[in-house]
Amino acid sequence: MYRNPIFLALDLPRIDAAEALARKVSAHVGGLKLGLEFFCAHGHHGVHEIAKLGLPIFLDLKLHDIPNTVAAAMQAIHVLEPAIVTVHAAGGRAMMEDAKAAAGEHCKVVAITVLTSLDAADLARTGIAGSPPDQALRLADLAHSAGLDGIVCSGHEVAAVHNQWKDGFFVVPGLRPAQAGATDQKRTVTPREARDAGASVLVIGRPISRAEDPVAAVRAIEATL
Ligand code: C5P
Repeated sequence: MYRNPIFLALDLPRIDAAEALARKVSAHVGGLKLGLEFFCAHGHHGVHEIAKLGLPIFLDLKLHDIPNTVAAAMQAIHVLEPAIVTVHAAGGRAMMEDAKAAAGEHCKVVAITVLTSLDAADLARTGIAGSPPDQALRLADLAHSAGLDGIVCSGHEVAAVHNQWKDGFFVVPGLRPAQAGATDQKRTVTPREARDAGASVLVIGRPISRAEDPVAAVRAIEATL
């Protein structure tokens, strides 16, 4: 469906810098991910500018509000024709159902389960007992039953989620190419490992955007898939 599963995370504050990077690597990525920071700074205009490159756009807005408001927000971004939009599964079943109903026919709606910035103690403080992986699987089930297309999950979880949701659409961020060398993370997953475990989309940002040669970096990743 996409040229390849790599979606470049354009987490750059300026539109011109984001556009220049995206243009450079455009022949080697399947799509472009724009996050909340970019959208709050540059809105529809910024998305239009990036969309001119002709690649599928993933709007990672992580919507979370009452069903009526989230559905209205989905309708408001419909004109941008995003290929993928994120909502928080914690918003509940009705919110996810209404978000999906309001999304265009060609827009995949995927759920955020548990943010990777939260650990068990953080969850406990919000009244949720149990581990983050347990909560993530529970919310993945809820997203599935609400009719969403899939979820966002880590490379460590994708095999388990794929096992219980065979035709799900799984977006995997937090990847580090094998050739990236030493990182601050102890257990990293490579793009190829995530793909083999069932990932539909591989979100990759800094390994490409901060590389000395972004084109060489993305081509090296592409060659491993
Ligand atoms: O780390 P990297 O720059 O490749 O991150 C790419 C994108 O993935 C970023 O937009 C970041 O917000 C997102 N991400 C995420 N969950 C993680 C790690 C990264 O949503 N655990």
